[in-house]
Amino acid sequence: MIKCTKRLAIKSKRNLESVKILVVGNGGREHAIVWTLLQSPQVTQVLCVPGNGGTATMERCQNLSFRVDDFAGIARFAEVNGVSLVVVGPELPLSLGIVDYLQNRNIPVFGPTRAGAQIESSKTWAKAIMEEAGVPTPKSATFTDLTTARAYIEQQGAPIVVKADGLASGKGVIVAETLLDALTAVELLFAQNYEKLLIEEFLVGQELSVLAITDGKTIRSLLPAQDHKRIGDGDTGANTGGMGAYAPAPLGTPALMTRIQNEVLEPTLVKLKQKGIDYRGVLYAGLMISPTGDLKVLEFNCRFGDPETQAILPLLATPLVELLMACTEQRLAALPPIEWKSAVSTCVTIAAQGYPANYERGKVIAGLDAANTEGTTVFHAGTQLTQNRVVTDGGRVLGVTSTAPDFATAIERAYQGVRLITFEGMYYRQDIGQKAL
Ligand code: AMP
Ligand code: GLY
Repeated sequence: MIKCTKRLAIKSKRNLESVKILVVGNGGREHAIVWTLLQSPQVTQVLCVPGNGGTATMERCQNLSFRVDDFAGIARFAEVNGVSLVVVGPELPLSLGIVDYLQNRNIPVFGPTRAGAQIESSKTWAKAIMEEAGVPTPKSATFTDLTTARAYIEQQGAPIVVKADGLASGKGVIVAETLLDALTAVELLFAQNYEKLLIEEFLVGQELSVLAITDGKTIRSLLPAQDHKRIGDGDTGANTGGMGAYAPAPLGTPALMTRIQNEVLEPTLVKLKQKGIDYRGVLYAGLMISPTGDLKVLEFNCRFGDPETQAILPLLATPLVELLMACTEQRLAALPPIEWKSAVSTCVTIAAQGYPANYERGKVIAGLDAANTEGTTVFHAGTQLTQNRVVTDGGRVLGVTSTAPDFATAIERAYQGVRLITFEGMYYRQDIGQKAL
C-alpha cells in the first residue's frame, strides 16, 4: 500500500481555481467519477450527460438530458457554458469518436480517440497490437466463416473461449465448457451478424483489473482491483458487467504491478504511438494471473472499469481533476506519484432481479440515506429520480462502497449498508471481497 503523504502543489497551465467538468455516462462508474471530482473545492460544477438518480441529487452537479452520442449538442453546451474538461465514461461514445469530435473543436477531453478506442471495440485489433508489442496474451485465431471456425474448435477441443469482434455490452464472450457449447456459440454470434470471431485458448487463474491513466507518453497504473464477473456466489452462473469489486487487490503485489507496467502497459503504449495513435485516457488491462504467477492479458478496455472504479476512486488522495487534466494536457510525467489513502475498499453491486437477462424497472428504492454513512457511499448505476423518488432504471442498480483500514471491516460495512436498502426484487452476491481476506 502506498502511504498518503502531503500533496505537492501542482501548477497547471489551466486555471484550477474554478473548474466546470462535464461527465458523459450514467453508470456507477460515472457517479463515482462525479463524487470524486467534487471532493476538490476548485471543481465548482459537474454536468452529467445524462447522469442517473445519484448524480441528480448531488450538490454542485446537474444532469443534462443529451444522448451520449449527441456530440454536437454536448460540444455546443460545453462551448457556451465554459466547460474546462469533458470526461467520457462509457466505451460506446468513445468508439463512435466523441473525443475526435470535441478535440476538433478545441474542447479539452479525457479519453482516447476513435482509433485508440479500437483496443476495446475490436478484439482482433487489440490482439494484433498485443502480438506485435510482445504483450503476453492467450493463443487465439480469427475466423470470418462458420465452417472453418467449427473445424478449429473441433480440432482444439473444450474448454475454449469464443469472442465476438465488436462492442457487445459484456455479452460477446462465451467461455465454453463443452464442444457443443462452443459450436453453439459460434453459430449464435455469426447469426447475430458479427463478421469476425476470435477463438481463444481457455486459461485458469485469478483475474486482475489494472486501470492505468495515460497522456500518450507516460502511463501510470491506479491501484489494482478485482471484479466479480459472475452473477452467483462462488463465481457461478452467467457473466455480468460486474457484481462487486475490491481494491487494492492483494493479488496485484508490487512485483506483479512492476511486471504489468513493463510487460503490458509500456509496450502497448509504445505500439499505439507507432501506429500514430495519441492515446490519452484510461487503458484498462483485464489480466489472468495463473496459479504459478504467469500473467496474460485477456482484454483491454479504453475506459474506467465498472464496478472497479467505484472501489478504486474512494481510495485516491491525489485530486482526480489534476490527474485527468494532466493527461489531456500531456504533462503526466511532471506530476508527483499518485497518492492513495491508507485504506482498502469493497463495493457490492445491488442488481435487479433477472439481471443479466431481463429485469423490471421503476421499483422504488428505500434506505439510501441510512446506508450513506461515514466510510460508506452508495453509488447509483441504473437509477432515476422521478417525482422526488429514486427508482430502479437498469440491471445493475447500486454499488455500495465502504472504505476501512482492512478488508474484513470494509466488507462488513458494505454489507451493513446493503442491508439498509430495499427495493422489490433486489439481488446481490454474498461473497464480495472474500478472496482478499
Ligand atoms: P473479456 O471481455 O475478453 O475480458 O472476457 C470476459 C470474461 O470472460 C473475462 O473477464 C473472463 O472471466 C472470461 N475470459 C475471457 N477470456 C478468457 C480466457 N482466455 N480464458 C478464461 N476465461 C476467459
Ligand atoms: N468490470 C468490467 C468492465 O468494466 O468491463
